[in-house]
Amino acid sequence: MFLQQLKIRNFRNYEKLDLSLDKNINIFFGNNAQGKTNILESVHFIALSKSHRTNNDLEMLMEGKKSFKVCANMHKNNIKYNLEIDYKDNKKHLFIDNDEYFKLNEYLSHLNIIIFYPDDIDIIKGLPDSRRKFLNNELSQLYPVYLKVLNEYNKLLKMKNDLLRKLNNREKIDMSYFNIVNEYLVDKAIFIYRARKKFIDKINNNIESIFYDISKRKGFYLKYITKPNIDDFDSNSLKSYLKEHIANSFKEEVNAGMALYGPHRDDFEFILDEKSLRKYGSQGQQKLSVLALKLSEINIFENQLGEKPVLLLDDIFSEFDKKKKNLILKYINNDIQSIITTTDLNNISKETLSKSKIFNVDNGIVKEIKR
Ligand SMILES: Nc1ncnc2c1ncn2[C@@H]1O[C@H](COP(=O)(O)OP(=O)(O)OP(=O)(O)O)[C@@H](O)[C@H]1O
Ligand SMILES: [Mg+2]
Repeated sequence: MFLQQLKIRNFRNYEKLDLSLDKNINIFFGNNAQGKTNILESVHFIALSKSHRTNNDLEMLMEGKKSFKVCANMHKNNIKYNLEIDYKDNKKHLFIDNDEYFKLNEYLSHLNIIIFYPDDIDIIKGLPDSRRKFLNNELSQLYPVYLKVLNEYNKLLKMKNDLLRKLNNREKIDMSYFNIVNEYLVDKAIFIYRARKKFIDKINNNIESIFYDISKRKGFYLKYITKPNIDDFDSNSLKSYLKEHIANSFKEEVNAGMALYGPHRDDFEFILDEKSLRKYGSQGQQKLSVLALKLSEINIFENQLGEKPVLLLDDIFSEFDKKKKNLILKYINNDIQSIITTTDLNNISKETLSKSKIFNVDNGIVKEIKR
């Protein structure tokens, strides 16, 4: 799939920007704080209806303006779509071909993206929450039903936590209601566990060779960690095991005043040579491992969606040596659309530059450079 046109109004430092993108490689270069990342953010926004760097949509509104909008013209499986998101009065309206979409999970399945940006290092270095967020974002793009079930799980979890907090305060609650909530929670939990496990298994099918390609090290994989450990259970016995485990943990959960077991406590580790890369890896290795993770998703997206997603690469070259930069560029070849930002065109080989569409970004003014 690819984005052909991008139209941005009152977004960050762009009052009006109309861009025609190349099917393959697009490079935005310029000094710091000129608006390169803002362009990637607008693509992230039109694809997923949220920014990759803030949860507060208001931050994207150009200072002094009342509304902003992003529109995109895209191609997927030989069909053209017009996407539009309008933001006004703290509300977003999502449109595809001028029809308003009220369900996010239905809107999401159109423009698919994989993004790699500097703060992605949090996926390895940050708290488990960053890793769960990664899993949730990717699975929501791949399987619209995942987002639906996740939302249901989170609602039930909140209900359960409210009840546990009451019990913890020695308030009386309706135990049959508590048991029903638990029952539903286990069903949703199993769906989420399975989706995450399948996804991590798929990543492990090709991440080792990608990591080897860009770092020349073997023995790399992701290890899915669940609480409780569900590794040894097949689908039939998992439900009864979870129910029993949660029932046995009742006192512990009341004492904590919150639900202690389930996919909201999931995590995964980056393992190299049977050691945790988070604990023992160098800064560069950690960054490469997250990049390998993102690159390994290309295949998974392609298999699931029938087409490769759009790759957004924000300032990825800053910490890599020249040899690694060239190895990474191999992945940005001709059969995937990529949108790349850099402060320095010297980061990118002449060969790649010769087949790229190149834009200079200077204080919100974007000009195509013909070479
Ligand atoms: N809501 C907003 N309204 C107007 N301008 C904004 C808004 N949010 C950010 N900016 C401006 O956008 C610019 C930063 O843009 P961006 O993050 O895209 O920079 P960049 O070119 O990627 O820089 P770097 O190379 O440092 O990453 C800053 O000048 C900032 O003041
Ligand atoms: Mg930037």
